[in-house]
Amino acid sequence: MAIKSFFSSEARAAARHQANAPAPPSVSAERLPSWAGLDYLTSAVVILDAQARVAHANAAAETLFEFSRKSLVSQQFSGLFANGQVIDDLFIEAQRLQFSNKRLDLTLLRSPREPLHLHTIVTVLQDEPSTPVVLEMQEIDQQLKFDREERILDQSQANRELIRNLAHEIKNPLGGIRGAAQLLELELNAPEFREYTQVIIKEADRLQTLVDRLLAPHRRPHIVGEVNIHEVCERVRSVLLAEYPRGLAIERDYDTSIPEFRGDKEQLIQALLNIAHNGAQALKEQIQVGSGQIILKTRIARQVTIAKTRYRLALELHVIDNGPGISEDIKERIFFPLVSGREGGSGLGLTLAQTFVQQHHGLIECESRPGKTDFRIFLPLP
Ligand SMILES: Nc1ncnc2c1ncn2[C@@H]1O[C@H](COP(=O)(O)OP(=O)(O)OP(=O)(O)O)[C@@H](O)[C@H]1O
Ligand SMILES: [Mg+2]
Repeated sequence: MAIKSFFSSEARAAARHQANAPAPPSVSAERLPSWAGLDYLTSAVVILDAQARVAHANAAAETLFEFSRKSLVSQQFSGLFANGQVIDDLFIEAQRLQFSNKRLDLTLLRSPREPLHLHTIVTVLQDEPSTPVVLEMQEIDQQLKFDREERILDQSQANRELIRNLAHEIKNPLGGIRGAAQLLELELNAPEFREYTQVIIKEADRLQTLVDRLLAPHRRPHIVGEVNIHEVCERVRSVLLAEYPRGLAIERDYDTSIPEFRGDKEQLIQALLNIAHNGAQALKEQIQVGSGQIILKTRIARQVTIAKTRYRLALELHVIDNGPGISEDIKERIFFPLVSGREGGSGLGLTLAQTFVQQHHGLIECESRPGKTDFRIFLPLP
């Protein structure tokens, strides 16, 4: 549908009079000399001109639509959506001043990826004929995402305290148990009893290893230097390929413009390795038939909120595997310590990865369904 005209001030006044509606607050050009402030918002904001083309898009909109502001401006906006006709219809209603604001759900096309559902508030700026319509958009899942992030943070803080205290409590008597078993062994003449002392010693050693892993993030000093994320990825890639020389393809999809940042490289390697390792372990069947795939993908994200703090730039590192997905019964708890869905798993890999990433003010999230598990590491960039 072609949308051309913009409405005259008389028409607007007449329509307002007819609808007997109170005038919504107007935004005058003097009070809003530039739209720079919109860049601080987490919602994507798009301002349409009188021809329903994009007159302005804020930074969050650039991230959401994956277009620079420059290429968004002057686009026929409705064309970006599966249900763009709704915008065209609404634009006409807006021109007739049939509402001052309205809510609707839009479906953003992102071929070849899945469409994204956006909750949108459309506001009519009655006194701004050249930019009559403002759209504020938020991913419908975003609120859920914020809630989930908050939960992850609270939980992992509580987990960390619990782990540290518990590990210390276990560690102290463990040395005593092992030492006593060794002394006992020296006193024993009958070799068959040694079997028992050996069980005690071996189990004490196993527990010691577990406790050491639990305490690792709290113990090692933070060694901070310049980190190139692709060096981290490459190291993890070669470790995994050495372990799985056949049947597993590890693809790279890197944004090489990502700047270096300050961090503890070894910790980040460990975090990424724990995640990618899980992927490879989940791909057991695929690896057997030669179709196992892990993708390491890096991107820059703009204006993101990580752990309640807003960053202008962040790094998004995806580890995507084509395995069976995380089983439903543990899906919500995978970052908890000692939660494992794997035979012989100790359930610490993801807890440690989350701790290491959080020590870099970042966060790990996960989305999983059969055929696609996507772990995302967010890290703030300078
Ligand atoms: N990519 C994945 N695909 C399917 N399931 C996964 C994936 N990543 C993690 N999981 C599930 O999450 C569980 C927890 O992972 P985590 O790394 O914390 O512990 P683990 O692998 O069981 O033991 P550990 O890493 O300590 O040896 C795994 O046991 C597995 O069931
Ligand atoms: Mg693991």
